Amino acid sequence: MGSLVVVGAQWGDEGKGRVVDLLAEQADVVARFQGGANAGHTIIVDGTSYVLHLIPSGIVRGKTCLIGNGVVIDLPTFFEEIETIEKQGLQVEGKLLVSDRAHLTLPYHRLLDAAREADNRARKIGTTQRGIGPTYVDKMMRIGVRVCDLFEPDNLREKIAANWEEKTHGLRHLSDEQRPHPDAVLETYLGYAEKLKPFVVDGSVVLNDARKAGKHVLFEGAQGTGLDIDFGTYPYVTSSNATAGGACTGTGVGPTFIDHVAGIAKAYTTRVGEGPFPTLMEPGIEEFCRQVGHEFGATTGRKRLCGWFDAPLVQHAARVNGLGSLIITKLDVFDQFEEVKLCVGYTNSEGKSVAFPASLADLAKCTPVYETFPGWNTSTEGARSMDDLPANAQAYLKRVEEVAGVPISLVSVSPSRESFILLDERLLSYAY
Ligand code: GDP
Ligand code: IMO
Ligand code: MG
Repeated sequence: MGSLVVVGAQWGDEGKGRVVDLLAEQADVVARFQGGANAGHTIIVDGTSYVLHLIPSGIVRGKTCLIGNGVVIDLPTFFEEIETIEKQGLQVEGKLLVSDRAHLTLPYHRLLDAAREADNRARKIGTTQRGIGPTYVDKMMRIGVRVCDLFEPDNLREKIAANWEEKTHGLRHLSDEQRPHPDAVLETYLGYAEKLKPFVVDGSVVLNDARKAGKHVLFEGAQGTGLDIDFGTYPYVTSSNATAGGACTGTGVGPTFIDHVAGIAKAYTTRVGEGPFPTLMEPGIEEFCRQVGHEFGATTGRKRLCGWFDAPLVQHAARVNGLGSLIITKLDVFDQFEEVKLCVGYTNSEGKSVAFPASLADLAKCTPVYETFPGWNTSTEGARSMDDLPANAQAYLKRVEEVAGVPISLVSVSPSRESFILLDERLLSYAY
């Protein structure tokens, strides 16, 4: 019996899907706890690529997967995703559970997200336009529609009609045909209710019963600490708690349920969408990194900006998540780099060393302090132990561990499932 939380320690796309797939081998239940269809988690097994947006990555191993109450569910995407992965040969029936308390992203949420991003007067966030912000707004405004509402048609009708009144203002630029009519939304969602019913559970009961029965539970974060609504680079963040605390509120378990929190970081840093990015690489190297690392969004196809490993960001992640270990992915992307830089700290305008600040104005005044490491010019893809790695790669990882202040438990060296170096056996066996 053990439970692990896996969260992104940077700005998302750290390789959470591939790591969860690895850790899911010994898991009994895998749970998502926040975010929605904005996530794009890629898992590659025997040359087949699975891209998941809402369904936890444990589905690839045929594990029981829970979409927790903290997730916002876009039902058309949910059913499409099921269809896609079933075509790829995965079994979903009887494996996938959905919390009755999760909120639903409705068609007007996506339209409102897109409208806000297109409005020149608003600050553009560079969202995925999946309706995430507007859905969480309604949750906090206490006018959201939850999974359990689908099974109470009168309640659902009333909620959709009332919300429609409120939302029409924000969508007044659209024609009547472009705006989903509340009656049509109601009819579609009553249809979804029938289809969704077999999946619906009280997620809190499921997880707590699993723990009592001695099962291993794995919590899969989406996005990352830099995108967390409280601890990220606000306002250039997503609208949920992507940090470890979200695993509790987003599924219905207490903090005492959790045995270990692992943070995932790439050997470098990426970011997609708007917002500050202090360790952006020099243009030629940045483009090279993007090509070698295939740094294009799994959800939107947008270019991800590439930067050097940002220790102040990861130190901040270690603190706010209570990280017990750090998982480093994509070390192999550096295999052809002549040299590798590592940002070991920030100094402010007075030259003082500072922690990752809250204010973006303060962050803009920070100067990254770099150390430079010689490259290794050797393929690391086949490495399965630290000793298999070239000395320069070992030296780089050692320094990353030192500056992050958290022990490294695992390093991955290619997108394939088997390409990793395990440094702490407890991680795979839930033995914390
Ligand atoms: P997530 O959102 O955190 O799950 O990450 P994404 O799936 O969006 O992005 C990570 C990308 O890196 C995916 O395309 C993975 O297949 C790929 N990847 C994961 N680990 C490694 C690795 O160790 N090496 C390389 N080259 N690619 C990796
Ligand atoms: P995974 O789980 C990277 C970014 C968007 C935008 C900001 C807000 O694959 O790591 P939103 O649509 O959430 O309102 O957009 O957050 N963003 C991500 N960036 N990986 C993700 O998910 C992301 N999900 C959202 O680009 O900057
Ligand atoms: Mg992703």
